[in-house]
Amino acid sequence: AGAALVVRRRMVTSAARWAPVMQIVEEFKKQCAMSATRLNQLANDMAIKMEAGLESDGGSELKMLLSYVDNLPTGDEKGLFYALDLGGTNFRIIRVQLGGQGKRVVKQEFVEVAIPPKLMVGTVDDLFDFIAAELEDFVNSEGEGFHFPDDDYRPREIGFTFSFPVKQSSIASGVLVKWTKGFNITNMVGEDVVAELSRAMAKRDVNMRVAALVNDTIGTVAGARYHDKDVVAGVILGTGTNAAYIERIQAIPKWRGTPPKSGETVINMEWGNFQSSHFTITEYDLALDLESLNPGEQIFEKLIAGMYLGEILRRVLLKLAERAALFGDVVPPKLNEPFILKTPAMSAMHHDTSWNLRVVGRKLKEILGIQNTSLKVRKLIVKLCDIIAYRGARLAAAGILGILKKLGRNTLPKDDIKQRTVIAVDGGLFEHYTKFSKCLNSTLAEILSKEVAATIVIDHANDGSGIGAALLAASHSQYLEHRES
Ligand code: GLC
Repeated sequence: AGAALVVRRRMVTSAARWAPVMQIVEEFKKQCAMSATRLNQLANDMAIKMEAGLESDGGSELKMLLSYVDNLPTGDEKGLFYALDLGGTNFRIIRVQLGGQGKRVVKQEFVEVAIPPKLMVGTVDDLFDFIAAELEDFVNSEGEGFHFPDDDYRPREIGFTFSFPVKQSSIASGVLVKWTKGFNITNMVGEDVVAELSRAMAKRDVNMRVAALVNDTIGTVAGARYHDKDVVAGVILGTGTNAAYIERIQAIPKWRGTPPKSGETVINMEWGNFQSSHFTITEYDLALDLESLNPGEQIFEKLIAGMYLGEILRRVLLKLAERAALFGDVVPPKLNEPFILKTPAMSAMHHDTSWNLRVVGRKLKEILGIQNTSLKVRKLIVKLCDIIAYRGARLAAAGILGILKKLGRNTLPKDDIKQRTVIAVDGGLFEHYTKFSKCLNSTLAEILSKEVAATIVIDHANDGSGIGAALLAASHSQYLEHRES
């Protein structure tokens, strides 16, 4: 009888311990749930705010920035071009030899370097000196298969992908509006991005010229359009999140000057800054925002993007440890450290298919120093991953629906014309976090009618933004022979 009693008491204690855990989790789950109806309202809100942002500068929290890209690559571009990609966790330099009509990309090479974290919050000079040095090395390694006219004075042309909000004054100039993601370099807001890079290049005698300054979303649209004429928008789901789409000049009241021949341009929405009463900000999101480098800004991004998902998970786990003793009587000290739990680790746990959730156990140990977790705890963590990742993916899908609504492509055309709408998506989160991308796709199928869903293509544009920037450098080259074949 004694033994039975002991067993019973233990069960009661563990059930009693578990109740506060479940209470916190269920509350969080409820707040993160996004029904199809809410997603639809969110999309309407997005479409309305897109219009307000096109009306006038400052008309909406969506900046709807003009890109000055009004001739997208056609396939006729020819010659050797470089691209520089700055704004995520890595910094990349690319060179491509474009063969012109029919031949397209003849050869390409790239280098990728992790940006030393201290440079993200250092000085302008340190950041751009670092970039120029890498650029110099890479250009000097140019070898077989790449051809450039034999002319000492002629600069090589670069497309510069700078993945932050920039108010452009031409295709190759523009000032930084604000830093986002993990960057916060003093004295750069309001400065011309191209001028900074050019100065750093001049110091090293790097003979290059920026022919196009673009956001990564714009690069993605350009890169994807090169292969597929039905591309209407580009979405980045990586460290940050954002979208760009092709808009008619007529629909842009704030447009000044002569409209381009094409009658269209590409708009960088900066959708990361979207806010809406149609999603709930949890206490974890609120605290994350307050303690971030940019409080009050980029709220949509903070619910969706790769920089933040793991950090949201950490905050929920911390609360569960503190309030509900999820990991026993002591709170694991490492759980207090902001950004210690990165989204790739969260993704690895989320995709763990082993029966005993071995990967979850290992990550908890390696990253947070939490030993010997029970299967029940591990399962709970997977459930939290579901809640956080699916909320992000569903919000991103609603954003895409917002663009489709703005373009009138959320319904079938009246006449019987066959319509195909391609959204090019790029970024590490979309590429590597399979459950996230699957959820994005299935959510779109859920919120669109079956007939319309059949006309929408979500296309993974692998490194569209890098190649796209090189293509835009070509289509905006100062040497005409590059543009025509
Ligand atoms: C941030 C930047 C935006 C960029 C996005 C994806 O939201 O503000 O310009 O496109 O991250 O990299």
